Amino acid sequence: MLKIGSGAGAPPFIVMDVIAAANARQAALAPGAPHVIRMEVGQPGTGAPAGAVAAAAAALRSGDPLGYTEAFGRRALRERIAAHYRAWYGLAVTPERVAVTVGASGGFPLAFLAAFDPGDRIALTSPFYPPYVNILTALGMRPVVLEAGPETRFQPSVAMLERLDPPPDGLIVASPCNPAGTMLHPDELAAVAAWCDRNGVRLISDEIYHGLNYDSPIATAASLSGSAVVVNSFSKYFSMTGWRIGWLVLPEDLVRPVERLAQNLFISAPHISQVAAEAAFDCHEELAANVARYRRSRDHLLRALPEAGFTRLSPAEGAFYLFADIADRSNDSTAFCARMLAEAGVAVTPGVDFDHARGARFLRFSYCGPEVDMRAAAARLKAWR
Ligand SMILES: Cc1ncc(COP(=O)(O)O)c(C=O)c1O
Repeated sequence: MLKIGSGAGAPPFIVMDVIAAANARQAALAPGAPHVIRMEVGQPGTGAPAGAVAAAAAALRSGDPLGYTEAFGRRALRERIAAHYRAWYGLAVTPERVAVTVGASGGFPLAFLAAFDPGDRIALTSPFYPPYVNILTALGMRPVVLEAGPETRFQPSVAMLERLDPPPDGLIVASPCNPAGTMLHPDELAAVAAWCDRNGVRLISDEIYHGLNYDSPIATAASLSGSAVVVNSFSKYFSMTGWRIGWLVLPEDLVRPVERLAQNLFISAPHISQVAAEAAFDCHEELAANVARYRRSRDHLLRALPEAGFTRLSPAEGAFYLFADIADRSNDSTAFCARMLAEAGVAVTPGVDFDHARGARFLRFSYCGPEVDMRAAAARLKAWR
């Protein structure tokens, strides 16, 4: 009998199963029946901004062989990313500290392998983005899950971290976060980063939803700690999910270790996507229109969902998610979501993916789809109630 590795036991990413169920439901609909409204997916309904597409098309026509790039990416893109930190955060980051990756997803194993050893304890709060736990586990690292609730807007606090004895080897934070759509405000992130520095804890800050913040300003961990690793991506604000392109901002001590890992694991991120990503930095006007649309959908849903019986919603501070506590309606969010899909034609994600202990009483609405659909979903759910 051939051996199968422990990584083969990685759990599924359940939202992918929900997407498949919504696709199947849509395919089975009679012609002319109202379409399934997609609120389960966490990806913008828009494509890459026009300037990024034009740059990619020009590169394809140019005769450039578009071969491998250096492991950390094209110099020009790394310089654009460094300039982005000056423009958005007033922070000087050298291009040498920027690693272009295969999405944020490609950044996680690089960061985890460079910063931690198998057996290390990495803290994070639940609810969490499922791949954090699944990747750590596949790499033999031990996630330490801290339950967070509405008191801390589902985010970690220094008080929560102080209770960890001994302190963990690492801490993962995300702000704005998935699934709760809440933020660590700049002073809170600063306090968490300072706690990490005091306790020798490596901070990994997932900043993929920066730019999609509606009420509070954002801070980057790169300006708050000299040892933090920042993970970011072109998938959300830049609306380029399928281009599979992201980046890390690395502390000096991890630059060369991550480069060696990147050379071996990925060689480079897709060249054509790097060209497009460079141009995306010139498309802020188009991207701001997307953000304005998310904000309008958010504002509408915050008014309309309570009328549809979803009265306990997380503060929707950022990203494009609303996390609803449905304990007053069901204690089985998977069955509840399946019924919502079958009866109201609205696909949403049950909380079980994000919180193994409490997820059965939560669900996540994603409002990055077309505005007209988001309004129609609220109306359907009100009628379905
Ligand atoms: C919090 C968070 N981090 C990372 C990712 C992965 O993004 P990417 O497409 O850049 O791999 C996602 C995707 O939904 C996410 O929600």
